[in-house]
Amino acid sequence: MRVLLIGSGGREHALAVGLAADPSVEFLAAAPGNPGIAQVAELHEVKATDPAAVAALAVELAADLVVVGPEAPLVAGVADAVRAKGIACFGPSAAAARLEGSKAFANEVMAAAGVPTARSYACTSPDEVGRALDDFGPPYVVKNDGLAAGKGVVVTDDRAAAERHAADCGRVVIEEFLPGPEVSLFVVTDGTAAVPLMPAQDFKRLADGDEGPNTGGMGAYAPLDWAPADLVDRVLAETVEPTLAEMRRRGTPFAGLLYVGLALTPDGPKVIEFNARFGDPETQVVLALLETPLAGLLGAAATGALAQLPPLRWREGAAITVVVASQNYPGTPRTGDVIEGAEVPGVIHAGTARRDDGALISAGGRVLSVTATGPDLVAARDAAYTLVDSVRLDGAQFRTDIALGAVEGRIKL
Ligand code: AMP
Ligand code: GLY
Repeated sequence: MRVLLIGSGGREHALAVGLAADPSVEFLAAAPGNPGIAQVAELHEVKATDPAAVAALAVELAADLVVVGPEAPLVAGVADAVRAKGIACFGPSAAAARLEGSKAFANEVMAAAGVPTARSYACTSPDEVGRALDDFGPPYVVKNDGLAAGKGVVVTDDRAAAERHAADCGRVVIEEFLPGPEVSLFVVTDGTAAVPLMPAQDFKRLADGDEGPNTGGMGAYAPLDWAPADLVDRVLAETVEPTLAEMRRRGTPFAGLLYVGLALTPDGPKVIEFNARFGDPETQVVLALLETPLAGLLGAAATGALAQLPPLRWREGAAITVVVASQNYPGTPRTGDVIEGAEVPGVIHAGTARRDDGALISAGGRVLSVTATGPDLVAARDAAYTLVDSVRLDGAQFRTDIALGAVEGRIKL
Protein backbone atom coordinates (compact mmCIF):
# COMPACT_ATOMS: atom_id res chain seq x y z
CA MET A 1 0.00 0.00 0.00
CA ARG A 2 1.19 3.56 -0.83
CA VAL A 3 0.32 6.00 1.96
CA LEU A 4 0.40 9.80 2.13
CA LEU A 5 0.22 11.37 5.59
CA ILE A 6 -0.82 15.02 5.95
CA GLY A 7 0.47 17.13 8.84
CA SER A 8 3.64 18.12 10.62
CA GLY A 9 3.18 17.70 14.38
CA GLY A 10 3.96 15.16 17.06
CA ARG A 11 0.76 13.27 16.32
CA GLU A 12 1.86 12.91 12.68
CA HIS A 13 5.34 11.76 13.69
CA ALA A 14 3.75 9.07 15.89
CA LEU A 15 1.38 8.12 13.04
CA ALA A 16 4.33 7.99 10.61
CA VAL A 17 6.26 5.64 12.90
CA GLY A 18 3.20 3.38 13.12
CA LEU A 19 2.51 3.45 9.38
CA ALA A 20 6.17 2.80 8.51
CA ALA A 21 6.18 -0.25 10.79
CA ASP A 22 3.17 -1.79 8.99
CA PRO A 23 4.52 -4.45 6.58
CA SER A 24 1.69 -3.67 4.13
CA VAL A 25 3.06 -0.14 3.60
CA GLU A 26 5.56 -0.26 0.74
CA PHE A 27 5.80 3.54 0.33
CA LEU A 28 5.21 6.32 2.87
CA ALA A 29 5.16 10.02 2.07
CA ALA A 30 4.31 12.94 4.35
CA ALA A 31 3.43 16.54 3.64
CA PRO A 32 4.62 18.90 4.90
CA GLY A 33 6.17 16.67 7.61
CA ASN A 34 9.04 17.60 9.94
CA PRO A 35 12.64 16.44 10.51
CA GLY A 36 11.46 13.55 12.70
CA ILE A 37 8.96 12.34 10.11
CA ALA A 38 11.70 12.62 7.48
CA GLN A 39 13.45 9.68 9.16
CA VAL A 40 10.62 7.34 8.06
CA ALA A 41 8.83 9.08 5.17
CA GLU A 42 9.56 10.95 1.96
CA LEU A 43 8.64 14.60 2.56
CA HIS A 44 6.70 16.76 0.10
CA GLU A 45 5.83 20.41 0.35
CA VAL A 46 2.14 21.18 0.35
CA LYS A 47 -0.19 23.62 2.02
CA ALA A 48 -2.07 21.13 4.21
CA THR A 49 -5.24 23.24 4.24
CA ASP A 50 -5.43 23.46 0.43
CA PRO A 51 -7.78 20.61 -0.60
CA ALA A 52 -6.92 20.80 -4.33
CA ALA A 53 -3.17 20.79 -3.65
CA VAL A 54 -3.35 17.80 -1.29
CA ALA A 55 -5.57 15.86 -3.71
CA ALA A 56 -3.17 16.60 -6.59
CA LEU A 57 -0.22 15.38 -4.52
CA ALA A 58 -2.09 12.18 -3.64
CA VAL A 59 -2.71 11.55 -7.36
CA GLU A 60 0.91 12.35 -8.27
CA LEU A 61 2.21 9.91 -5.65
CA ALA A 62 -0.33 7.24 -6.70
CA ALA A 63 -1.40 6.99 -3.07
CA ASP A 64 -3.80 4.21 -2.10
CA LEU A 65 -4.55 5.85 1.23
CA VAL A 66 -4.29 9.41 2.54
CA VAL A 67 -4.25 9.90 6.32
CA VAL A 68 -5.08 13.42 7.48
CA GLY A 69 -3.66 14.25 10.91
CA PRO A 70 -4.72 17.76 11.96
CA GLU A 71 -8.16 19.35 12.21
CA ALA A 72 -7.63 22.42 10.00
CA PRO A 73 -7.26 20.46 6.73
CA LEU A 74 -10.29 18.34 7.63
CA VAL A 75 -12.44 21.38 8.33
CA ALA A 76 -11.16 22.87 5.03
CA GLY A 77 -12.40 19.81 3.09
CA VAL A 78 -9.15 17.96 2.32
CA ALA A 79 -10.73 14.52 2.85
CA ASP A 80 -13.58 15.40 0.47
CA ALA A 81 -11.14 16.52 -2.23
CA VAL A 82 -9.02 13.36 -1.90
CA ARG A 83 -12.06 11.07 -2.05
CA ALA A 84 -13.34 12.98 -5.09
CA LYS A 85 -10.20 11.70 -6.88
CA GLY A 86 -11.20 8.12 -6.03
CA ILE A 87 -8.50 7.76 -3.35
CA ALA A 88 -9.32 6.34 0.09
CA CYS A 89 -8.88 8.89 2.86
CA PHE A 90 -8.76 8.45 6.61
CA GLY A 91 -10.46 11.56 7.98
CA PRO A 92 -13.99 12.97 8.07
CA SER A 93 -15.60 15.20 5.45
CA ALA A 94 -15.72 18.94 6.12
CA ALA A 95 -19.38 18.58 7.07
CA ALA A 96 -18.60 15.88 9.64
CA ALA A 97 -15.46 17.64 10.95
CA ARG A 98 -17.76 20.39 12.23
CA LEU A 99 -18.09 18.17 15.32
CA GLU A 100 -14.71 19.67 16.19
CA GLY A 101 -14.85 22.86 14.11
CA SER A 102 -17.83 24.31 15.98
CA LYS A 103 -18.57 23.75 19.65
CA ALA A 104 -22.13 24.99 19.06
CA PHE A 105 -22.66 22.38 16.31
CA ALA A 106 -21.24 19.62 18.53
CA ASN A 107 -23.63 20.62 21.31
CA GLU A 108 -26.57 20.59 18.88
CA VAL A 109 -25.66 17.06 17.70
CA MET A 110 -25.18 15.84 21.27
CA ALA A 111 -28.55 17.26 22.32
CA ALA A 112 -30.27 15.56 19.36
CA ALA A 113 -28.48 12.28 20.12
CA GLY A 114 -29.12 12.41 23.88
CA VAL A 115 -25.39 12.30 24.68
CA PRO A 116 -24.37 13.12 28.26
CA THR A 117 -22.50 16.42 28.26
CA ALA A 118 -22.39 19.79 30.01
CA ARG A 119 -25.37 22.14 29.79
CA SER A 120 -24.33 25.09 27.65
CA TYR A 121 -25.31 28.39 26.02
CA ALA A 122 -24.01 29.81 22.75
CA CYS A 123 -23.49 33.55 23.37
CA THR A 124 -22.59 36.53 21.21
CA SER A 125 -23.42 39.59 23.34
CA PRO A 126 -22.06 40.65 26.74
CA ASP A 127 -25.64 40.39 28.07
CA GLU A 128 -25.96 36.76 27.03
CA VAL A 129 -22.52 36.06 28.45
CA GLY A 130 -23.49 37.65 31.76
CA ARG A 131 -26.70 35.64 32.03
CA ALA A 132 -24.91 32.36 31.24
CA LEU A 133 -22.17 33.05 33.81
CA ASP A 134 -24.85 33.87 36.41
CA ASP A 135 -26.73 30.65 35.64
CA PHE A 136 -23.75 28.31 36.09
CA GLY A 137 -21.65 30.15 38.66
CA PRO A 138 -17.93 29.42 39.17
CA PRO A 139 -15.79 27.72 38.01
CA TYR A 140 -16.62 29.39 34.70
CA VAL A 141 -16.01 27.52 31.42
CA VAL A 142 -15.78 29.82 28.38
CA LYS A 143 -14.99 28.33 24.95
CA ASN A 144 -14.17 30.00 21.69
CA ASP A 145 -16.69 28.68 19.13
CA GLY A 146 -14.15 27.66 16.52
CA LEU A 147 -10.87 25.87 16.03
CA ALA A 148 -8.38 27.03 18.62
CA ALA A 149 -5.86 24.16 18.72
CA GLY A 150 -6.87 23.27 22.28
CA LYS A 151 -6.16 26.77 23.53
CA GLY A 152 -9.54 28.43 23.12
CA VAL A 153 -10.91 27.41 26.49
CA VAL A 154 -10.69 29.35 29.73
CA VAL A 155 -11.70 27.64 32.97
CA THR A 156 -11.54 30.10 35.85
CA ASP A 157 -13.10 31.20 39.12
CA ASP A 158 -12.34 34.79 38.14
CA ARG A 159 -15.52 36.35 36.70
CA ALA A 160 -13.65 39.25 35.09
CA ALA A 161 -11.25 36.85 33.34
CA ALA A 162 -14.22 34.82 32.05
CA GLU A 163 -15.86 38.00 30.70
CA ARG A 164 -12.58 39.15 29.09
CA HIS A 165 -12.11 35.81 27.28
CA ALA A 166 -15.73 35.98 26.03
CA ALA A 167 -15.19 39.52 24.74
CA ASP A 168 -11.91 38.52 23.02
CA CYS A 169 -13.58 35.60 21.20
CA GLY A 170 -16.79 37.22 20.03
CA ARG A 171 -18.86 34.07 19.64
CA VAL A 172 -18.47 31.74 22.62
CA VAL A 173 -20.04 28.71 24.25
CA ILE A 174 -20.42 28.96 28.03
CA GLU A 175 -20.77 25.66 29.83
CA GLU A 176 -21.52 24.06 33.12
CA PHE A 177 -18.26 22.91 34.80
CA LEU A 178 -17.85 19.12 34.74
CA PRO A 179 -15.94 17.75 37.74
CA GLY A 180 -13.88 14.56 37.74
CA PRO A 181 -10.80 13.08 36.08
CA GLU A 182 -10.48 13.53 32.32
CA VAL A 183 -10.08 10.72 29.80
CA SER A 184 -9.45 10.78 26.06
CA LEU A 185 -11.05 7.93 24.11
CA PHE A 186 -10.19 7.55 20.43
CA VAL A 187 -12.66 5.68 18.24
CA VAL A 188 -11.78 4.59 14.70
CA THR A 189 -14.95 4.55 12.63
CA ASP A 190 -16.10 4.11 9.04
CA GLY A 191 -19.31 5.93 9.88
CA THR A 192 -21.13 2.83 11.12
CA ALA A 193 -18.73 0.37 12.76
CA ALA A 194 -16.75 1.80 15.69
CA VAL A 195 -13.46 0.41 17.04
CA PRO A 196 -12.34 1.99 20.32
CA LEU A 197 -8.63 2.38 21.04
CA MET A 198 -7.16 2.28 24.54
CA PRO A 199 -8.27 5.21 26.75
CA ALA A 200 -5.47 7.63 27.67
CA GLN A 201 -5.10 10.65 29.89
CA ASP A 202 -3.75 13.98 28.71
CA PHE A 203 -2.38 16.86 30.82
CA LYS A 204 -3.81 20.10 29.46
CA ARG A 205 -2.30 22.63 31.85
CA LEU A 206 1.20 23.96 31.36
CA ALA A 207 2.64 23.40 34.82
CA ASP A 208 2.94 20.68 37.45
CA GLY A 209 -0.09 20.18 39.66
CA ASP A 210 -2.40 21.29 36.81
CA GLU A 211 -1.41 24.91 37.30
CA GLY A 212 -0.99 27.55 34.61
CA PRO A 213 -2.77 28.11 31.32
CA ASN A 214 -4.40 25.48 29.09
CA THR A 215 -2.17 24.15 26.31
CA GLY A 216 -2.56 21.70 23.45
CA GLY A 217 -1.42 18.99 25.91
CA MET A 218 1.80 18.56 27.89
CA GLY A 219 1.95 14.79 28.28
CA ALA A 220 -0.09 11.60 28.34
CA TYR A 221 -0.09 8.01 29.50
CA ALA A 222 -1.97 4.75 29.08
CA PRO A 223 -3.44 2.42 30.19
CA LEU A 224 -5.65 3.95 32.89
CA ASP A 225 -5.68 1.25 35.55
CA TRP A 226 -7.90 3.40 37.77
CA ALA A 227 -10.71 3.81 35.22
CA PRO A 228 -14.00 1.89 35.66
CA ALA A 229 -13.96 -1.49 33.89
CA ASP A 230 -17.09 -0.64 31.88
CA LEU A 231 -15.84 2.79 30.76
CA VAL A 232 -15.28 2.02 27.07
CA ASP A 233 -18.49 0.01 26.64
CA ARG A 234 -20.49 2.69 28.38
CA VAL A 235 -19.06 5.53 26.27
CA LEU A 236 -19.63 3.52 23.09
CA ALA A 237 -23.27 2.90 24.02
CA GLU A 238 -24.12 6.33 25.51
CA THR A 239 -22.03 8.62 23.32
CA VAL A 240 -20.30 7.16 20.28
CA GLU A 241 -23.08 5.07 18.75
CA PRO A 242 -25.81 7.74 19.19
CA THR A 243 -23.49 10.42 17.78
CA LEU A 244 -22.56 8.32 14.73
CA ALA A 245 -26.26 7.53 14.19
CA GLU A 246 -27.19 11.22 14.40
CA MET A 247 -24.45 12.13 11.90
CA ARG A 248 -25.72 9.44 9.50
CA ARG A 249 -29.29 10.67 9.97
CA ARG A 250 -28.16 14.16 8.94
CA GLY A 251 -26.62 12.76 5.78
CA THR A 252 -23.11 13.64 6.96
CA PRO A 253 -21.72 10.37 8.36
CA PHE A 254 -18.60 10.76 10.48
CA ALA A 255 -15.81 8.48 9.23
CA GLY A 256 -12.30 8.79 10.61
CA LEU A 257 -11.16 9.29 14.17
CA LEU A 258 -13.73 10.45 16.69
CA TYR A 259 -11.88 11.76 19.72
CA VAL A 260 -14.13 11.80 22.76
CA GLY A 261 -12.81 14.01 25.56
CA LEU A 262 -14.61 12.98 28.74
CA ALA A 263 -14.94 13.99 32.36
CA LEU A 264 -15.70 11.03 34.63
CA THR A 265 -18.24 12.87 36.78
CA PRO A 266 -20.13 11.45 39.77
CA ASP A 267 -23.08 11.05 37.34
CA GLY A 268 -20.99 9.05 34.85
CA PRO A 269 -18.82 9.92 31.85
CA LYS A 270 -19.81 13.19 30.16
CA VAL A 271 -18.41 14.67 26.97
CA ILE A 272 -16.15 17.71 27.36
CA GLU A 273 -15.36 17.90 23.67
CA PHE A 274 -15.31 16.04 20.40
CA ASN A 275 -12.35 16.24 18.08
CA ALA A 276 -12.32 14.97 14.52
CA ARG A 277 -8.75 13.61 14.62
CA PHE A 278 -6.24 11.83 16.82
CA GLY A 279 -5.29 13.77 19.95
CA ASP A 280 -1.81 15.07 20.50
CA PRO A 281 0.04 13.89 22.63
CA GLU A 282 -2.27 10.95 23.50
CA THR A 283 -1.59 9.40 20.07
CA GLN A 284 2.05 8.95 21.03
CA VAL A 285 1.14 6.60 23.91
CA VAL A 286 -1.83 4.83 22.34
CA LEU A 287 0.11 3.94 19.18
CA ALA A 288 3.15 2.88 21.21
CA LEU A 289 0.95 0.13 22.70
CA LEU A 290 -1.00 -0.83 19.56
CA GLU A 291 0.27 -4.04 18.00
CA THR A 292 -2.28 -4.29 15.16
CA PRO A 293 -0.75 -2.84 11.96
CA LEU A 294 -1.85 0.79 11.71
CA ALA A 295 -2.30 1.21 7.95
CA GLY A 296 -4.60 -1.82 7.86
CA LEU A 297 -6.77 -0.33 10.60
CA LEU A 298 -6.98 3.17 9.11
CA GLY A 299 -7.41 1.74 5.61
CA ALA A 300 -10.34 -0.40 6.76
CA ALA A 301 -12.02 2.68 8.25
CA ALA A 302 -11.39 4.65 5.05
CA THR A 303 -12.98 1.96 2.86
CA GLY A 304 -15.96 1.02 5.03
CA ALA A 305 -14.48 -2.37 5.92
CA LEU A 306 -14.02 -1.92 9.66
CA ALA A 307 -16.64 -4.53 10.61
CA GLN A 308 -14.47 -7.23 8.96
CA LEU A 309 -11.31 -6.28 10.90
CA PRO A 310 -10.18 -8.79 13.57
CA PRO A 311 -10.11 -7.46 17.17
CA LEU A 312 -7.23 -5.09 17.94
CA ARG A 313 -4.12 -6.46 19.60
CA TRP A 314 -2.29 -4.50 22.32
CA ARG A 315 1.19 -4.80 23.83
CA GLU A 316 1.55 -5.54 27.53
CA GLY A 317 2.76 -2.74 29.78
CA ALA A 318 2.39 1.02 29.84
CA ALA A 319 3.42 4.04 27.78
CA ILE A 320 4.03 7.67 28.69
CA THR A 321 4.94 10.75 26.73
CA VAL A 322 6.33 14.01 28.09
CA VAL A 323 6.05 17.13 25.91
CA VAL A 324 9.03 19.49 25.77
CA ALA A 325 7.80 22.98 24.87
CA SER A 326 9.70 26.12 24.01
CA GLN A 327 10.16 29.14 26.21
CA ASN A 328 6.99 31.25 26.54
CA TYR A 329 4.61 28.55 25.20
CA PRO A 330 1.53 28.73 25.07
CA GLY A 331 2.05 32.44 24.45
CA THR A 332 4.22 33.45 21.48
CA PRO A 333 6.88 30.74 21.69
CA ARG A 334 10.58 31.51 21.26
CA THR A 335 11.89 29.61 18.22
CA GLY A 336 15.24 29.07 16.51
CA ASP A 337 16.99 27.48 19.51
CA VAL A 338 19.33 24.57 18.75
CA ILE A 339 18.11 21.17 20.00
CA GLU A 340 20.55 18.41 20.89
CA GLY A 341 19.91 14.75 21.68
CA ALA A 342 16.59 14.65 19.85
CA GLU A 343 17.46 12.40 16.92
CA VAL A 344 17.04 9.12 18.76
CA PRO A 345 14.22 6.57 18.94
CA GLY A 346 11.49 7.64 21.36
CA VAL A 347 11.81 11.36 20.61
CA ILE A 348 8.79 12.43 18.61
CA HIS A 349 9.22 15.68 16.73
CA ALA A 350 6.56 18.40 16.60
CA GLY A 351 7.85 21.99 16.26
CA THR A 352 11.32 21.21 14.95
CA ALA A 353 13.06 22.37 11.78
CA ARG A 354 16.37 21.86 10.02
CA ARG A 355 18.59 24.96 9.76
CA ASP A 356 20.64 25.52 6.58
CA ASP A 357 23.77 24.26 8.36
CA GLY A 358 21.95 21.03 9.26
CA ALA A 359 21.37 21.84 12.94
CA LEU A 360 18.02 20.83 14.43
CA ILE A 361 16.20 23.89 15.82
CA SER A 362 12.93 24.66 17.58
CA ALA A 363 10.20 25.96 15.28
CA GLY A 364 7.03 25.96 17.37
CA GLY A 365 5.44 25.86 20.82
CA ARG A 366 5.38 22.15 21.50
CA VAL A 367 8.83 21.22 20.18
CA LEU A 368 8.94 17.48 20.78
CA SER A 369 7.67 14.77 23.04
CA VAL A 370 9.61 11.95 24.61
CA THR A 371 7.78 8.64 24.55
CA ALA A 372 8.72 5.49 26.44
CA THR A 373 7.12 2.16 27.25
CA GLY A 374 7.80 -0.22 30.11
CA PRO A 375 6.34 -3.19 31.95
CA ASP A 376 4.38 -0.73 34.11
CA LEU A 377 3.84 3.01 34.49
CA VAL A 378 6.69 3.44 36.98
CA ALA A 379 9.17 1.91 34.54
CA ALA A 380 7.75 3.84 31.58
CA ARG A 381 7.97 7.11 33.57
CA ASP A 382 11.57 6.45 34.58
CA ALA A 383 12.54 5.70 31.01
CA ALA A 384 10.77 8.77 29.61
CA TYR A 385 12.24 11.20 32.13
CA THR A 386 15.74 9.77 31.67
CA LEU A 387 15.37 10.46 27.96
CA VAL A 388 13.98 13.98 28.63
CA ASP A 389 17.14 14.74 30.61
CA SER A 390 19.29 13.85 27.60
CA VAL A 391 17.55 16.41 25.33
CA ARG A 392 19.07 19.91 25.29
CA LEU A 393 16.92 22.95 24.44
CA ASP A 394 17.40 26.41 25.93
CA GLY A 395 14.33 27.63 27.81
CA ALA A 396 12.62 24.22 27.58
CA GLN A 397 9.44 23.77 29.59
CA PHE A 398 8.09 20.37 30.57
CA ARG A 399 5.99 18.89 33.34
CA THR A 400 7.66 16.59 35.84
CA ASP A 401 4.40 15.02 37.05
CA ILE A 402 3.03 13.25 33.96
CA ALA A 403 1.28 10.05 35.17
CA LEU A 404 2.44 10.70 38.73
CA GLY A 405 -1.08 10.85 40.18
CA ALA A 406 -1.84 7.44 38.66
CA VAL A 407 1.42 5.95 39.92
CA GLU A 408 0.72 7.25 43.43
CA GLY A 409 -2.94 6.12 43.36
CA ARG A 410 -4.18 9.70 43.78
CA ILE A 411 -6.85 9.72 41.06
CA LYS A 412 -10.28 9.70 42.68
CA LEU A 413 -13.45 8.84 40.85
P1 AMP B 1 -11.39 21.58 25.36
O1 AMP B 1 -10.57 22.34 24.36
O2 AMP B 1 -12.87 21.71 25.15
O3 AMP B 1 -10.91 20.17 25.52
O4 AMP B 1 -11.06 22.19 26.76
C1 AMP B 1 -9.76 22.21 27.26
C2 AMP B 1 -9.76 21.81 28.70
O5 AMP B 1 -10.58 22.69 29.45
C3 AMP B 1 -10.35 20.44 28.95
O6 AMP B 1 -9.43 19.41 28.76
C4 AMP B 1 -10.76 20.57 30.39
O7 AMP B 1 -9.64 20.43 31.24
C5 AMP B 1 -11.24 21.96 30.48
N1 AMP B 1 -12.69 22.01 30.26
C6 AMP B 1 -13.34 22.27 29.10
N2 AMP B 1 -14.67 22.20 29.25
C7 AMP B 1 -14.90 21.90 30.55
C8 AMP B 1 -16.08 21.70 31.34
N3 AMP B 1 -17.30 21.84 30.84
N4 AMP B 1 -15.91 21.38 32.65
C9 AMP B 1 -14.67 21.25 33.17
N5 AMP B 1 -13.53 21.45 32.49
C10 AMP B 1 -13.63 21.76 31.18
N1 GLY C 1 -4.51 16.49 23.54
C1 GLY C 1 -5.60 17.32 23.23
C2 GLY C 1 -5.90 17.49 21.83
O1 GLY C 1 -5.30 16.87 20.97
O2 GLY C 1 -6.78 18.28 21.53
